[in-house]
Amino acid sequence: MSKKILLNIVLILLIYNISCTDDSSEEDNNPVAAPILLDPENISGESFTARWLGDATATSHLVDISKDENFIDILSDYNQKSVTAESLVVSGLVDNTQYFIRVASLKDMEKSEYSSVKSARTIDIPDPEPELALRTLTDLPIGAAVQASRLNGSYGQRVSTTHSSLTAEFEMKMKTIFTGIGEYNFTPGDAIVEFAEANDMQVHAHALIWHLSTPDFLENFSGTDQEFENLIRDYIHEVVGHYKGKVASWDVVNEAVNDENGGLRNSIYQQRMGDDFIAKCFQFAREADPDVLLFYNDYNIMFDETKLDASLSIIKDMQDRGIDADGIGFQSHLDINFPTRNTIATSLNKAVDLGLLVHISELDIKVNPGREQNIEFNTNLAQRQRTKYIEVVEEFLRLPRENQFAITIWGVIDGQSWIPNFIGAPDFPLLFNDDLSPKSAHTGVAEAIQNAN
Ligand code: G3I
Repeated sequence: MSKKILLNIVLILLIYNISCTDDSSEEDNNPVAAPILLDPENISGESFTARWLGDATATSHLVDISKDENFIDILSDYNQKSVTAESLVVSGLVDNTQYFIRVASLKDMEKSEYSSVKSARTIDIPDPEPELALRTLTDLPIGAAVQASRLNGSYGQRVSTTHSSLTAEFEMKMKTIFTGIGEYNFTPGDAIVEFAEANDMQVHAHALIWHLSTPDFLENFSGTDQEFENLIRDYIHEVVGHYKGKVASWDVVNEAVNDENGGLRNSIYQQRMGDDFIAKCFQFAREADPDVLLFYNDYNIMFDETKLDASLSIIKDMQDRGIDADGIGFQSHLDINFPTRNTIATSLNKAVDLGLLVHISELDIKVNPGREQNIEFNTNLAQRQRTKYIEVVEEFLRLPRENQFAITIWGVIDGQSWIPNFIGAPDFPLLFNDDLSPKSAHTGVAEAIQNAN
């Protein structure tokens, strides 16, 4: 209980001690004291709790609620509202509105003076965002990273009505598929492909080779380098062959460029297959499927010029050698402050200059770049997130249509994003609230698409 309330109670007890006398008849003659009104509590978008400390002799209390502090126009439901308790939940209110409260006490027919006036402003509840099915606004594939176990009920409905493309968040990675030499588990990935087929969606398959999704038996493989390379070749042939005709594209290699100097990451693949491992993997994939689109995918290349240039150089080298490399995935794990629209445009156009397909492949926009532990997703952050989503989508849609591959959001609802766990703080980076309702950012993406049409 707060010090303020305790002080109020002590004050009242003192008042009563002074006024009370042994003779109950004298007590009966004392006028009933005005209640002491406390600050309103539990304030929501449509209610709050009024609480007061009343005269011990009072038999009931009368509560007035008004939108004006002179109580000229008192709410009909709360005009001399009679209560016997010393609190009242005031409900049925309008959001983002100031209300004034006063209370009087009754002792039989005698009415006390009014308490002091307190006020409460109900919380601003933004109007619900419009329902705009993104996939109906454009022929550009609008994707989401999903997990097969979630694709049911209202969640599955939201995914299929909003998106026209799917990426498996983990089910089509090596750690899930490659369960042992010559052993493959396609069941999790097949579930996502089946959901896509049932809902007229394409699949962007992710990812054949990624240093963070390498099974232990491969990390610890004791055979020769050539035997290791043969294992990778067989894996890629098997997996790309399994999904041939079922997926539109593959991230063949993910995150192979280091963050320091644009060199190759020191991964088991680079160690065992040499610097040319990326080209070899693209060749293996093409051998297994002559039609599937082949991408290189990496993070921070939307704004890390060194890393972007190194990535494009790897792709250009393959192009120059006649090795198919169709596109580049900009993962795009961004935040509300960064990068600028100009940086986004410059980076994406560098890929266009190489004639590449551009995939905004893992888009999410953090609202908590400072990793504050107690952040609240308020209207201001929602607006800034909407603006950044619009910048990314608008700059992407400014590219020549033949270079636009897809926009994929890395998740559906905020509560299932990988970001909070990754940054160790709350965040709300996606397009939908946890109740599957669209956020302002979703409306922003829809408007950016509509304006580009
Ligand atoms: O492995 C279990 C699986 O056996 C189980 O059936 C399933 C039930 O939900 O859970 C699986 O657990 C974890 C899975 O996410 C689902 O939560 C995996 O252990 C965990 O490694 C996996 O994390 C994924 C991570 O990549 C590693 O694959 C994240 O969801 C996914 O968001 C993240 O995505 C990466 C991109 O691939 C590349 N770019 C960065 C991005 C974020 O790290």
